[in-house]
Amino acid sequence: MFVDRESEGPEPGGQIVRDAAQEAARILGHVIQCDGAHATIATTAAGSKSQEAGQWSVGKFISISLANTRTVGLVHDVHVDGSWHEEADNRMLVHVDLIGEVRDGKDGAPPTFDRGIAQYPHIGAIAHRIRQRDLAAIYEIGGNDAVPIGNLSQDESVLAHIAMGRTLNRHFAVVGSTGVGKSTAVSLLLRKAIEARPNLRVLILDPHNEFASAFPDKAVTLDSDTLDLPFWMFRLEELVEVLYLGRDPIVEEVELLRDLIPAAKAEHRGAGNVTLRRSAEASGITADTPIPYRMADVMRILDERVGLLDSKDLRPVYRTLRQRLDSAMRDPRFRFMFGARIIEDNITSAIGRIFRIPAQGKPVTCFHMAGMPSEVVNSVCSVLARLAFDLTLWGKGQIELLVLCEEAHRYMPVDPRMGFAPTRHALARIAKEGRKYGCYLGVVTQRPGELDPTIFSQCSTVFAMRLPNEQDQAIIRSAISDASASALSFLSSMGPREAIAFGDGVAATMRMKFEFLDRRYIPGSITRDRTAPEIEGSGDLDLNSIVERMRNGGRDPSADDVWFGPATPTAPAAGGPEQRPSLARLSPYVDEPIRQERRPDGRLFG
Ligand SMILES: Nc1ncnc2c1ncn2[C@@H]1O[C@H](COP(=O)(O)OP(=O)(O)OP(=O)(O)O)[C@@H](O)[C@H]1O
Ligand SMILES: [Mg+2]
Repeated sequence: MFVDRESEGPEPGGQIVRDAAQEAARILGHVIQCDGAHATIATTAAGSKSQEAGQWSVGKFISISLANTRTVGLVHDVHVDGSWHEEADNRMLVHVDLIGEVRDGKDGAPPTFDRGIAQYPHIGAIAHRIRQRDLAAIYEIGGNDAVPIGNLSQDESVLAHIAMGRTLNRHFAVVGSTGVGKSTAVSLLLRKAIEARPNLRVLILDPHNEFASAFPDKAVTLDSDTLDLPFWMFRLEELVEVLYLGRDPIVEEVELLRDLIPAAKAEHRGAGNVTLRRSAEASGITADTPIPYRMADVMRILDERVGLLDSKDLRPVYRTLRQRLDSAMRDPRFRFMFGARIIEDNITSAIGRIFRIPAQGKPVTCFHMAGMPSEVVNSVCSVLARLAFDLTLWGKGQIELLVLCEEAHRYMPVDPRMGFAPTRHALARIAKEGRKYGCYLGVVTQRPGELDPTIFSQCSTVFAMRLPNEQDQAIIRSAISDASASALSFLSSMGPREAIAFGDGVAATMRMKFEFLDRRYIPGSITRDRTAPEIEGSGDLDLNSIVERMRNGGRDPSADDVWFGPATPTAPAAGGPEQRPSLARLSPYVDEPIRQERRPDGRLFG
């Protein structure tokens, strides 16, 4: 083992005070070169089976003893000076990054670690394996905010801690290629977070519908059946995304809506009082103000205006808008928006249900996105992210809310023309200002190179798991500032559950292994566990029911007569080239290509 466990007593003044035999085992080399950030150590190894050869390996910490301190170095390169002789002593050169220094505490107190070097190693200084107490000191987080999430890779007997407060409120990211354990790590982090902060609420934007199974006791699920998000809570641009099924809207129709909605709001507020209805503009009500109105009123005012039109040329615009509204209201996919029979101001109960206020023991909400059409998902994510921010803003610090974005590169892509602009803006607002109000962002992605860099740069703590792609590695490297950047050279070769954690949430860059999580709490484990024996066992797959589920966006037809009942035929949406491709509902959100070149005029929503 590389870490020195035998000698745990204080080492006054950095002087080595143990007997000669013990020292011989610990002294491994001498400094022969040093610049501001790096040092080279010369050492010897007697054959490949020797203890020394195994002890100098890339990614490990070593310590260099000086008069008052011990300088901590991270090995990033080892090579033999000449050729290797199995039977002789081989001279090796070890290059280390200088990370910081450890000082013994006074009167037997534990050692302390400081980033940065006050006293540089001199030529000839003795380098040896690091003591376990020193290693623990490097990652020590003071106060009771420290939460263990795993163990150090270098020495599994040392716990890896994060500062939960700093990790949450300065936002965090978990990156790594597919299957390395990102979602499992997130499940672990969230469990620890809600344990440590009982007032925290978590909203998971879950494109694979996998997190609910990981929080059987702590989460509620939202999907298009259980979601209740009345259309009047949508801003105009979000409503338009739904009405136009993600296509570029017709400007005249949107302008008409912009005019009609405030009138309908005023009408609903004044319950038919004409004076109040006329006063929409005067009272500051806009199409975006979140107050209730009735679509029936929008349609009626629209019909009244058609009657007053001078020019016949404008009539088609009115007609297609009316058809569009009509078909959206009858579309069963949008039932969660238009389904309420009575329009009432239920914003409090809707927000309370979504954001778990009161929590009733379940502070986590999993928003199931798989199976929902992407334009609905886009709008709903935008509304939810916006509500999350506003809730904490107006909650004046009483509410803490974490929005966790799985597959974040899909709705915050690097190209501003891709994705849905309002969702991106709502999430960017959380990333930039949320910290002040208690609204936090957790970002999970397998492609950091495809994620909006402004969002990534706001994530002050990063857990980087195995990441073979060079371009993605470069993004992570640019996010790390200190000498420990060379730790990232291991990104392509990390083991399962392993991550390099760096940033505000940890004391120093650490290579760690997440705790082993019980099968029950691994995201998506229920889906995976169920399918495997079926495939192996019966041999008779029920292809009909699979196709039926595909056709209906993952729903079980027998369980849901809302979608398949005779009552609600889906009228084609008006306007646009006939209309939604029928395949659209076959593809879950995650598999749909992100649209290019949206809203080229860019002016519509100012
Ligand atoms: N901490 C852990 N404890 C136990 N098992 C783990 C842990 N981390 C990962 N695993 C195993 O690795 C598998 C894949 O993990 P996970 O689904 O979290 O990967 P992922 O990075 O989210 O993949 P994807 O990019 O496909 O979503 C899990 O099913 C689990 O078996
Ligand atoms: Mg995952």
